[in-house]
Amino acid sequence: MTKAVLIEGDGIGPEVSRATIRVLDAAGAGMEWERHLAGVAAIEAGHAKTLPQETVDAVVRTGIALKGPCTTPVGGGFSSVNVALRKAANLYAAVRPVRSMPGVPTRYSDVDLIVVRENTEGLYAGIENEITPGVVTSLKVATRPACLRIAAYAMRMAVARGRHKVSVFHKANIMKLSDGLFIRCSKEVWESAYKDRLEYEELIIDAACMRLVQDPSRFDVVLMENLYGDVISDLCAGLVGGLGVTPGANIGEQASVFEAVHGSAPDIAGKGVANPLALMMSGVMMLNHLATTRDQPGAKEAATRIRDAYNRALLDGCKTRDLGGSLGTEGFADAVIERLA
Ligand SMILES: NC(=O)c1ccc[n+]([C@@H]2O[C@H](COP(=O)([O-])OP(=O)(O)OC[C@H]3O[C@@H](n4cnc5c(N)ncnc54)[C@H](O)[C@@H]3O)[C@@H](O)[C@H]2O)c1
Repeated sequence: MTKAVLIEGDGIGPEVSRATIRVLDAAGAGMEWERHLAGVAAIEAGHAKTLPQETVDAVVRTGIALKGPCTTPVGGGFSSVNVALRKAANLYAAVRPVRSMPGVPTRYSDVDLIVVRENTEGLYAGIENEITPGVVTSLKVATRPACLRIAAYAMRMAVARGRHKVSVFHKANIMKLSDGLFIRCSKEVWESAYKDRLEYEELIIDAACMRLVQDPSRFDVVLMENLYGDVISDLCAGLVGGLGVTPGANIGEQASVFEAVHGSAPDIAGKGVANPLALMMSGVMMLNHLATTRDQPGAKEAATRIRDAYNRALLDGCKTRDLGGSLGTEGFADAVIERLA
């Protein structure tokens, strides 16, 4: 059994987490869950902070977590728990595979790309000042070590997964220093170690968005800084059926946290209708990660069984409402469990 942290989160988090854990258990994933709190759930349980230190410590100690979404209030209130956890556990690389799914028809049928997002810097450094009433500055942070580290991660991962191209999105025509550093570091990494193995291109992000919606199949691995990665992840989710089908991983040197791209969806929370698939897919990413980094026996097989089962369920028309079906969260989990070989 592998010990891992489960953070259910809030909003739809507990619902999609429960459904996902049922599927992982039914597939014999071999996980032993240590439950910890974050976000609104932590405050409601009496913790003084939205990100209790014991949660961070447990993530770093076990090295693996599966996490549901956590709400962040807009325009005030507490700061993002998700961003804080990524910083506290140094989860520097967000990896978000975006693939056309069987049985989920969209405008495109051949999307297969991976968004790699720098997870610790940029405008997400959260350094904002109101200099005088009505005048606010937000500081965008870019450091050479973090830019080199994310570029090296993206290119190492691209080669390991048999990918052929890395496209770097930026706005260095306007943000000449910060985004300029990002692309210089990316190119430096490519030239020093990957020139023979990967194609490389740099695209200004506004033009890149247009190309993404015109023909997403031209992209393979797309690399960018924090805020662009946040926005592009949701855009890419829209290419393949929405936030219900887009998983993610936050990778660091000591720990990795697996979570869907979607948020806590307060508009549907507590109704039992949320799609748990993106978190299930994140669970599959977690098992594949355990198979490659820790040689966990049976992890690869369990990941394959779950993936085959949800693909079959979708092809059989078993879908939640966001994908045009009528199943609820638990109903979709039942459909996947029935199809585990
Ligand atoms: N990693 C995270 O924890 C994370 C990520 C993004 C947003 N958030 C937080 O979530 C809250 C809500 O944000 P938002 O409304 O912008 O984005 P959201 O992803 O929660 O929801 C956007 C839309 O997609 C739908 N949706 C999302 N996930 C779904 C699912 N699994 N099944 C079916 N429909 C789904 C929602 O109903 C909503 O209409 C905010 O507080 C935000 O800060 C958290």
